[in-house]
Amino acid sequence: MTNESPIVARSVAAMRKEVEEWRRAGDVVGVVPTMGALHNGHLALLQAAKSECDRVIATIFVNPAQFAANEDLDAYPRGEAADLAKLQELQTDMAFMPDAGEMYPDGFVTKVRVEGITEILCGLVRPVHFGGVATVVSKLFNQSQADRAYFGEKDYQQFLVVRRMARDLDIPIDVVPVPTVREADGLAMSSRNVYLSIEQRAAAPALYRVIRDVAARVTNGTSAEAAVAWGLEELATCGFDSIEYLEVLEAEMLGPIDFPNKPGRVFVAAHLGSTRLIDNVAV
Ligand code: PAF
Repeated sequence: MTNESPIVARSVAAMRKEVEEWRRAGDVVGVVPTMGALHNGHLALLQAAKSECDRVIATIFVNPAQFAANEDLDAYPRGEAADLAKLQELQTDMAFMPDAGEMYPDGFVTKVRVEGITEILCGLVRPVHFGGVATVVSKLFNQSQADRAYFGEKDYQQFLVVRRMARDLDIPIDVVPVPTVREADGLAMSSRNVYLSIEQRAAAPALYRVIRDVAARVTNGTSAEAAVAWGLEELATCGFDSIEYLEVLEAEMLGPIDFPNKPGRVFVAAHLGSTRLIDNVAV
C-alpha cells in the first residue's frame, strides 16, 4: 500500500475476500487486535507488524464480552476518524471494524475459557475479562487467517493467555510480544491514561519506578516477599489510593517465582482515584 486510506472492512466476509487475495499472492499477513483509541503503544504494535509482514490488518472492536456490568464499556474512549487517520499515516493495509452484531450474531453461545493463568492477577478482580478476550481473539484469528499477531507486553497476562489459547486450539499463528511503550516519565501508554487528573498524572509514573526497583531488589538477592512489602509501602506513600496486587511471579505460567532458574516478572495493578493502572517488568 502507498498513501491510500486503509481498506475498511466491516464484515468478516469483506476481510476474508481481501486476505484470500493476499495469501494467494504469497503475502505474510499480520494482525494487530485493538479496541481503538489508538495511541503510541498501538502504533508500536503496528510498526512491529509492518516490519515483519507484507500485509497488516488492524482490528478495532470494543469487545463487550470482556467488560463486566460494573466496568467502563460505555465510557471506553472511541474515535473512528482519528484512528483511521493514524492507520493511514502508518500505511496499514486494512482496518477491520465490525459491529457487535457481526462479532456476536443472534444465537451466539460459545465461550473460550483458558484455565489457571486467567485466575490470578487481573483475573481475580475481573473474572469476566480473559474469557471475553480469549473468545474475541480466537474469532479474530480465525476470521483474519493471519500468520502473525502482535500484543503489547503492557498487558503481559493477556499476551500469555492469548498465546496459550492459540497453542491449545492449534490456531496456526505466531503470537508476538512487543515491548511496552512509555511516556518520557516512564508511565506505560494506555487508552485509560486520559482519565487521570493533572495531580494523578503526576503521581502515575511512580508505578513503573517502584516495580523496576522491586525487580532490581529480587535480582540482587532480596526475597520476593521483602521486595513486595517494600513496594507496597512505597506505592502508598506515592499517593496510590488502592493497590490491587503487586506480585513477583514466574513469567510463563505465572507460578511462584523461581529466579534465577526461570525468568520472573513483577506485576502491579493500582488505582489513582477511579482509574486503574497496570504495569509489569521482567526480573
Ligand atoms: O488489548 C486489547 O485492546 C483487547 O483486550 C483486545 C486484545 C483487542 C481484545 O479485545
